Amino acid sequence: MDPYRPRIGERIERIETPAVVVDLDTMEQNVDSFVSFAQDHDVTLRSHAKTHKNAALARMQDRRTNGGIICQTLEEVEYMAENGLDDIYLTHMIVNDSKLRRLVQLSQELSVFQTTVDGRGNVDPLQEITAELDEIVSVVLEVDLGLERVGVGSIDDARELAAHIRSCSHLELVGVMGFEGHINAEVSSETEYERRCREAMDNLERYVNALRDDGHTITDVKVGSTGTSKHSGRHPVVTEINPGMYPFNDANLLHWAGPVTKDDCALTVLTTVVSEPTRDRVIVDAGSKTMSFDVDQMPVPADRSDLEYYDYSEEHGFASTADASDVTVGDRLSFIPPHVCTTINLHDRFYGVRDGRIEEVYDVGARGALR
Ligand SMILES: Cc1ncc(COP(=O)(O)O)c(C=O)c1O
Repeated sequence: MDPYRPRIGERIERIETPAVVVDLDTMEQNVDSFVSFAQDHDVTLRSHAKTHKNAALARMQDRRTNGGIICQTLEEVEYMAENGLDDIYLTHMIVNDSKLRRLVQLSQELSVFQTTVDGRGNVDPLQEITAELDEIVSVVLEVDLGLERVGVGSIDDARELAAHIRSCSHLELVGVMGFEGHINAEVSSETEYERRCREAMDNLERYVNALRDDGHTITDVKVGSTGTSKHSGRHPVVTEINPGMYPFNDANLLHWAGPVTKDDCALTVLTTVVSEPTRDRVIVDAGSKTMSFDVDQMPVPADRSDLEYYDYSEEHGFASTADASDVTVGDRLSFIPPHVCTTINLHDRFYGVRDGRIEEVYDVGARGALR
């Protein structure tokens, strides 16, 4: 038993810092808001569980939306499947022989399993193993909507690949996916958000229509990040939105032009001031081994306006304080981290709190599940 692990029901003051803390009331409001959006716009909400890598939260999301979950790695799928999730979409390409055998096993075990392809390089090895093991696997064809990461980049390429998939005895094309997450960082107003998402979805619709004209049954049209889902999900071509960070939000989402405010940020990093070397600088016990700095934002103080987190080393966070600030050694300060997914991934567990008490301890169960 871990002596430092506070128990359910104890006050949050018992949590040693640095620690990741989730305000459950805010998280539930955020989930409610996306569930209502999906209901109102007749789209499926399938939540990306890579954000928290925790099975209890994934089960809660699946129950709320009845839409299944998403994973980014095969090992994440295995962890979620072992913990009771049975409708999982894998948004990554798998090509290695031993991993493809694990993929087939998951496809056999789960009620719904779908994986992603974008070229013959990942379709052909999948066909080879699924034929050998005699399992029909559902595939989703990814289209590049401008992120320039993965995905086919032209309608002709999509038609050629879909025709190739049709010739594969053990693959069934069930849908198309486009991730328009690059739009988040490229817009400066709600109107622009709306316009760019509508254009991206119009573009995706052209792909879907071309494939349907060729006789493919494209049942699922999957899109969306936390920032874009509520715009893209209004487009008639979309059947499913795939946000990940929406239960929590973060400093990046605060910075982008979307409707997120500090009050919507459910997840914070609780820190302690350990030093006050000068009148205008305090040091907290949370640097880059506690919060991830893989995006351009700095942590944002959750409930104070008299300090600014401006730099970090591994275990130190540097905050400048205003003249009138009374922040001093021993104070506990909460920060909204720059990027929630990669911050959770640095921790073994995080705490769900309500009314000042610990209500849940969430293990980051699929932490390190990268293969
Ligand atoms: C393919 C795909 N879909 C959905 C998401 C979820 O987006 P977000 O984490 O911004 O909510 C991601 C995140 O990177 C992704 O890569």
